[in-house]
Amino acid sequence: MSKKTYYISTPIYYPSGKLHIGHSYTTVAADAVSRYKRLKGYDVMFLTGTDEHGQKIQRKAEEKGITPKQYVDEIVSGIKDLWKLMRITNDRFIRTTDDEHVEAVQKIFKKLYDQGDIYKSEYEGWYCTPCESFWTKTQLVEGKCPDCGREVELTKEESYFFRLSKYQDRLIKHIEENPEFIQPVSRQNEMLNNFLRPGLEDIAVSRTTFNWGVPVSFDDKHVVYVWIDALSNYITALGYSAQDDTLFQKYWPADVHLVGKEIVRFHTIIWPAMLMALDLPLPKQVYGHGWLLLEGGKMSKSKGNVVDPQILVDKYGLDAIRYFLLREVPFGSDGIFSNEALINRINSDLANDLGNLVSRTVAMIDKYFGGSIPAEKVAGDFDSELIKLVGETPAKVEELLDKLQFSTALTEIWKAVSRTNKYIDETMPWVLAKDEANNPRLAQVMYNLAETLRIISILIQPFMPETPEKIWNQLGITDKSLVEWEKSKEWGVYPVGAGINKGDVIFPRIDLKKELEEIEKMSEKAAEANNTAEVPKAKEVQKPAKTEKTAEPPVDETNANLITIDDFAKVDLRVAKVLEAEKVEKADKLLKMKLQVGDEVRQVVSGIAKYYTPEEMVGKTLILVANLKPAKLRGIESQGMILAASDENGLSLVTIDKDMPSGAHVG
Ligand code: MSP
Repeated sequence: MSKKTYYISTPIYYPSGKLHIGHSYTTVAADAVSRYKRLKGYDVMFLTGTDEHGQKIQRKAEEKGITPKQYVDEIVSGIKDLWKLMRITNDRFIRTTDDEHVEAVQKIFKKLYDQGDIYKSEYEGWYCTPCESFWTKTQLVEGKCPDCGREVELTKEESYFFRLSKYQDRLIKHIEENPEFIQPVSRQNEMLNNFLRPGLEDIAVSRTTFNWGVPVSFDDKHVVYVWIDALSNYITALGYSAQDDTLFQKYWPADVHLVGKEIVRFHTIIWPAMLMALDLPLPKQVYGHGWLLLEGGKMSKSKGNVVDPQILVDKYGLDAIRYFLLREVPFGSDGIFSNEALINRINSDLANDLGNLVSRTVAMIDKYFGGSIPAEKVAGDFDSELIKLVGETPAKVEELLDKLQFSTALTEIWKAVSRTNKYIDETMPWVLAKDEANNPRLAQVMYNLAETLRIISILIQPFMPETPEKIWNQLGITDKSLVEWEKSKEWGVYPVGAGINKGDVIFPRIDLKKELEEIEKMSEKAAEANNTAEVPKAKEVQKPAKTEKTAEPPVDETNANLITIDDFAKVDLRVAKVLEAEKVEKADKLLKMKLQVGDEVRQVVSGIAKYYTPEEMVGKTLILVANLKPAKLRGIESQGMILAASDENGLSLVTIDKDMPSGAHVG
C-alpha cells in the first residue's frame, strides 16, 4: 500500500533583506509538522521558497545599481543558508524566478483570460509598494496603507482584472461548509465579516509601470501582479501544467498552507477563487498564525529592531531557539520575543527540567551500577503513576500536533519531564543506595527514569533536531528501532544492560543578569556606532569589512552605494553650538552635551569621550544630523548625531571654517 501523503507549505519569502527571527517562526513551525508527519510514516512534501518579483525588489536593485536578478540571487542564497542553520527539512525550494514557475504562471494567466475570468480594463487606485497591495480610497486608514501604515501611491493604468466578484458566493459557502478551511476560527470570522460578506470587487492583476515580473504572454507590456504570481507557487512547484505533473497529481490539494495572519486574506480569498477558476480543489486548510513581536511592535527591518537568528543560534544553540519559538507563544496568537523570556525558558524548561533529568539519571546509573542497569528489578510505590502519565503523553502530543498546537504539545511533554523529576524526589535513590538489599528496587527506579527519557526523546524530535541524539548517546541507545515514533507508545523498551555514556550537560544554565548585561553592551555598541557618524576611510568605502559568519547578505553590508541628490536632501544637517558637556557615568566613551540649534536646545550623546574632554567641547561649532530619530544610549536620550572623521589613530569632529549662526543649514 502506498504511504499517505502530507503537503505543507510556508509562504514564499520576499528577498528584500535579511530575514529576522520572526520569519523563522513560520518555517520552524512547518518544519516541526513535517518532521512529525515523516516520523508518523507519511510521505511529506514540505515546500518553501522565495517571492522575487515586484516593484519593491526592482527599486531596491535600482538603488544598489545592480539588476533585480543579481539582487535576489545574493539574498536568496542567504535565505537558503538560514534554513540550513535552522535545520529546516524542506523537500522543495521554489523561486518565482525559476523558468518552470514563470512558464506555468503564464499558462495560468492565459487560461483565465481565455475563459473570461481575466479581462482588460483601466485601474485607478492606491498602491502600497512594500506590501504589493492595491487599496480603494475607502480602505485606506488616514490615507495610509491599512496593513502596514505606510504611504501609498495613486496609480492609474491599463490593467487586466480578475473576476474575483464572481466567486464570492461560492467562497462564502465553502468557508461556511468547511470550518477547518480557515484556522484559527477567529480568522474565519474576520474574512467573512470584513471582506467576503461586504462584497468582493474584481482585482487588478497586471501592472505596466515596472517590468520586474512575469510577462503576460499575450501582452508583454504587462507583468502579472505579484500575488497572482506568488500564490501560484503552491501548484507550480509541483509541476502543475508541466509535462511531468506527477508531484502535482500526488500531493495536491495541500493539507495546509501555514501563513502569518496579515496574509490570510490573500490565501483565503484570492487564492481559492483562482483555484475555483482553474477548476482545481482547494487546500484543505489555511492556518494563520500570529506575529512574534518585539517590545510592542512587529519585528521589521525598517523599525530597526531586527533579531538576528544567526546570533541567537550561535549564542544559545539551535534547539533552544526552536523550542522557544514553538513553546512560548500559542500558535495563532501574537507573542513577545525578548532575551529575558528566552533565557528564562532555557534555564527553567531546558537546563533545570530536561537537562537536569538527563544528567541526574546518567550520573546515578553510573554511580550506583557502574554504568548499566542490572536485570533484577522490583516494582514499587510511585511507579504506576509515572508509567500511566508517561504512557498517556504520546497520544496527547499527536492530537495536539495534528491541530498545530505546538505550545500545548510541548507542555504535555514537559508534564512528563516534571513528573519524572518528581519521581526522583519521591523514590529517593540516594537513600535506597545506602543498603545493597535495595538494589533491585534501585534498579527499577533507574530503569523507569531511563525508559521515560527514551520516550521523551522520541516525542521531542519534531521540535529539536539535535537533542534526541544526545540523549540516546548518553543512555547508550544504539539501536534506532527502539526510538521509532510508534515505540513512544510502548513501555519497557529500553534495553537492560545498555551502557550509559556520561556526556556534556545538554543545556547549560545561563546567568541571566550577566547575559542581559552583555546583550545591553552589544546593543549599546551598535547604537554608539550608529550615533557618531564616522566618515569612513576611502578603502573601507570601496570594500566594506566583512565579519565572519554573518548571515547578513553582502548587498546589505555595503555603504558603497551611490545615492541621489534627493536621498541626500532627506538628511537635515545643521550648525550646532555646544552649550554644556559632561561625561556619562560608567560609560567611558560617552559625552552628554547640550547643543544650541537655532531656537532649540538639543541633548546629544556621542561616543567621543576618549578624544575630547567636556571642557574643550564647550563653545565648539559642530554639524548635527538634526532629523535623526532619537535613540537612547545608557538610558539617556540622544536627539541627533554629530559628525566626525575617524581612523585607527583617532577621531576629529567636523566643524565649519567661518562663523555661522547655530541652526544654519548645511548641505
Ligand atoms: N511574499 C509574501 C508571501 C507570499 S506567499 C504566496 C510574504 N513574504 S514575507 O517575507 O513578508 O513573510 C513571510 C512570512 O513571514 C509570512 O507568513 C509572515 O507573516 C511571516 N513573518 C514575518 N515577520 C513575522 C513576525 N515578526 N512574526 C511571525 N511571523 C512573521 O508575506
